[in-house]
Amino acid sequence: MSLTDKMRVLVTGGAGFIGSHTVIALEEGGFNPVILDNFSNSNKSVLNGLKSILGHEVVCVEGDSTNKETVRNVFDQYAIEGVIHFAASKAVGESMQEPLMYYRNNLGSLLTVLEVMEEKKVGLLIFSSSCTVYGEPENTPVTENTPIKPAASVYGNTKQICEEILHDVAAAKPFKIISLRYFNPVGAHTSGLIGEFPIGVPNNLVPFVTQTAAGLREKITVFGNDYPTPDGTCIRDYIHVMDLAEAHTAALSYIAGLRTSSFYDVFNVGAGRGNSVLELLNTFEKVNNQPVNYQIGARREGDISSIWGNVEKAKQVLGWEAKRNLATALKDAWRWQQHLSES
Ligand code: WQD
Repeated sequence: MSLTDKMRVLVTGGAGFIGSHTVIALEEGGFNPVILDNFSNSNKSVLNGLKSILGHEVVCVEGDSTNKETVRNVFDQYAIEGVIHFAASKAVGESMQEPLMYYRNNLGSLLTVLEVMEEKKVGLLIFSSSCTVYGEPENTPVTENTPIKPAASVYGNTKQICEEILHDVAAAKPFKIISLRYFNPVGAHTSGLIGEFPIGVPNNLVPFVTQTAAGLREKITVFGNDYPTPDGTCIRDYIHVMDLAEAHTAALSYIAGLRTSSFYDVFNVGAGRGNSVLELLNTFEKVNNQPVNYQIGARREGDISSIWGNVEKAKQVLGWEAKRNLATALKDAWRWQQHLSES
C-alpha cells in the first residue's frame, strides 16, 4: 500500500462517462484515483463536476495511454499501485470506417499500460470489456461461459483480442486481472453534475432520448420494430452507470485481497434483466412526465435482437449486484440533461 492508507489507482480514460463515475465509486470505496485522459472523447468540465461532488479536486493528467513515457511518468509521480483501464475508442460504427485507428488505440493503450505495469511491478488491473464479445447469443441471459462469437465489429474484436492478451499475460507473469463485460451503461450520478457527454450526434439510445426530450433533437428513430421480441424492438440489459462503477471497486478489492501470485477471470456486469427500446421510451416518459417524440424506422445495421446478462457470478464471487432500476437511471439521465441545458 502507498504511504497514505488509500491505494493509488490509475484510471485511464477516467474523464469519460464510465471512468468519471468510477472515480466517484473509488473515492467512496476508500481508494485514491488518479485520472489519465487525452480528452479525445471527454470534456474537461467533468473535472468541475467531480470536484463539486467530492469536495476536492481529483488528480488528472492530460495525456495519451498509448504513450509509454506519459504512462511511466504517471506511475512514478503518483506511486500507482493498481490500474483500471478504460481508455479506448468505442463507437461501433466508426470502428468499421477506421480499423487501423481502433486497433492502434485500443490494443496499443492496453499493451503500453501492461508493459509499464510490468516494469513497475504493479500487478492489479481491471479491464473495461463488453458484452459485445457474445455477438448475437443463441440463448439469453448470457453467462460468462456463453460462447464468444466472431466479432461483428472492429470495436468488438479489439475487446476480444484484449481479453486474450490479458489471459496470456496473467498466465505467464505476476498479474491479477479481471475483465468486466459491460452491458448497456445508462443514467448519471444522482447529483446531475456528471453524466454521459456524447460529442456530436449520440450513438447510444439514452442520450438521444434525453436530447430529444430536451428539444435539442426533433425526434428519435426506433431502429426497427420487426425483431423476434414481444414488442418487436431490440432488448438490452440497461445498467445504471453507478452500479457499473461500483462493480469496478468490488473487482479491485477482490484481486487486491487475493494471495495467489497471478489471476485472471471475466465477469458479466449488467442489471441482469432485459428491456426493449419501447419499454425504455415508455419508462422515460412515465417517470419524468416528459414526452419523447419518436418514429419507427428501419433496422440499424449490426444491431442484435436480444441480449441481457446472467450476473450471478459477480454476485457470488465479487459480492456485487446492481441496486438501481431502469426508472432511477432514466430519472438520473434526465436530471443530467437538464443540468446541461442550464449550464
Ligand atoms: C441500444 C438499442 C438500438 C439509438 C453499444 C455497443 C456496446 C456498448 C453500448 C461500448 C439498440 C436502439 C439506439 C437510436 C434506437 N458500447 N436505438 N435508436 O448498440 O446495444 O451497444 O453501446 O461498450 O458495446 O455495441 O447500444 O444505445 O446504441 O442501442 O432505436 O437512436 O437502442 O437499435 O437496439 P448497443 P445503443
